[in-house]
Amino acid sequence: MTKCVYPGSFDPFTLGHLDILARACALFGEVKVAVLKNTRKSCFFTLEERLAFIRRAIDEKGLTNARVAAFEGLLADFVEFERAGCVLRGIRGAIDYEYEAAMAALNKRLYPHCETVVLMASPEFIAVSSSMVREIGRLGGNIGSLVPESNRAAIAERLLADE
Ligand code: PNS
Repeated sequence: MTKCVYPGSFDPFTLGHLDILARACALFGEVKVAVLKNTRKSCFFTLEERLAFIRRAIDEKGLTNARVAAFEGLLADFVEFERAGCVLRGIRGAIDYEYEAAMAALNKRLYPHCETVVLMASPEFIAVSSSMVREIGRLGGNIGSLVPESNRAAIAERLLADE
């Protein structure tokens, strides 16, 4: 069974991300969640927080073939380093598709054997994004149906403290 890399900023990891990860765990031998280190793109949550949220979500869901690591530099290099067969991404619709198609093409240009597998978001998560979680949480809204239960309190507390 192939190993894949599931990359992203995960700022923070949402129930939509967890849904994609769980479905990929049923399709691949191993799924390595690759969390982008803050470089030029700044994140609200620290790398350590984002890694911890994902580890807790994996435990909560009992995903025994999911792993987590931070990465910096080119994603395609990380996929090579991990000896993974492909990149996994989730898409919610046409807007995501344009970006993912370009990224997949460029990664393939860097390493012609680098495949990208895309899973469609489940209908209940089509509108869920990290940026919406941050906005709703900052304004004191209920993020209960948007992020894994094990992370809810910590994420809500950090976002509220930002207002
Ligand atoms: O969750 P995001 O922010 O949509 O994830 C984007 C991510 C991290 C997958 C993308 O920015 C990325 O791969 N960054 C690493 C640098 C890189 O390889 N860039 C070229 C992509 S073709």
